[in-house]
Amino acid sequence: MKLIIGSDHAGIEHKSYLVKYLSALGHKVIDIGTNSTKSIDYPDIALKGSNMFLQNLADFVILICGTGVGMSLTANKMPGIRAAVCYNPEIAALAREHNDSNILCLGARFLDIKECGRIAKAFIETSKSKEKRHLRRVNKIKEIEERNFKGGYQIKK
Ligand code: RB5
Repeated sequence: MKLIIGSDHAGIEHKSYLVKYLSALGHKVIDIGTNSTKSIDYPDIALKGSNMFLQNLADFVILICGTGVGMSLTANKMPGIRAAVCYNPEIAALAREHNDSNILCLGARFLDIKECGRIAKAFIETSKSKEKRHLRRVNKIKEIEERNFKGGYQIKK
């Protein structure tokens, strides 16, 4: 599969490990940075990864920050993105199966590096469910987007 991976300064070691691990599994991995310990802002990387995904440049995106939360909050502002913070392989598989999640967010300060490998593998290797109830629920998310994101972002008053 084609994967995009990005992190802020908090996630660079986890990112390096995942690039090697996922490449060794046979995936094509595009590293969008950051590659230094210099502090950067996670929304910049989340936006870059999300935009690339929306341009069909990858099957999935993996975003890493200290908690995974900042990356997911940012990525989920983009229509069509369903970013999930996952903290074990089972949650990752369910995020794919039930929620058709397309971006995996990881919290480097709370997850062992090798556990991140197992979480990413579970995410990538699990297909979305074809069960009606799951499709219906994901469609409801899409409908909410349709209503609220048409023509650009609506500002909540
Ligand atoms: C950076 O210190 C930290 O705030 C960031 O990596 C992330 O955890 C934010 O959600």
